[in-house]
Amino acid sequence: MFVTFEGTDGSGKSTQAELLRASFVADGRDVVLTREPGGTELGEAVREVVLNGPVMGAWAEATLFAASRAEHVEEVIRPALERGSDVICDRYVDSSLAYQGIARGLGVDAVLQLNLDVTGGLLPDVTFLLLLDPGVATGRHVDPDRLEREGTELQAKVDAAYRELAERFPERIVTIDATGEPETIAREVREQLRDRS
Ligand code: TYD
Repeated sequence: MFVTFEGTDGSGKSTQAELLRASFVADGRDVVLTREPGGTELGEAVREVVLNGPVMGAWAEATLFAASRAEHVEEVIRPALERGSDVICDRYVDSSLAYQGIARGLGVDAVLQLNLDVTGGLLPDVTFLLLLDPGVATGRHVDPDRLEREGTELQAKVDAAYRELAERFPERIVTIDATGEPETIAREVREQLRDRS
């Protein structure tokens, strides 16, 4: 099973990805937890350039994230799925659709096509979208990167973008209210997965 977590910066995705990994491990499942941008040597380099490098245009951002994702799928995600592991990924295609496709205006269809091309069409089985009031999410951050510094205006756009994606892909994207305690949210994630399997 390929599960991804999405949400605005500071929505608690990484915590939930880790809690789900721990619960899979407790069930005796073989699981790979990974993240984007990152997950490979190239991905970490892209992460550094996009998050801390020069100001760049939306297509430069979209194609760099896509390059990182292509490598990530080829080196990590697909091999893990093929050997029967579950894969949990903190951010994946929907981050590009929300940030570059909608918030930065490139268009969902164009960015989706790019990503389907570079990943051999690999979409998650389930995507958990953690929804928070955008102001709350920004307030949680201590060490902002370049995108986070663009601040609440971008975060509000991204929040709206994710909600739009959830309506567009209702079979795949499960929305979760992320205002509660991490353990409560983790329980809801597990229940949703149980209901779907
Ligand atoms: P990161 O530090 O991982 O943020 P978070 O902890 O919130 O996940 O930084 C990732 C940033 O990159 C985040 O602002 C979202 C952005 N991003 C995109 O714009 N497009 C993408 O395809 C991906 C994977 C991330």
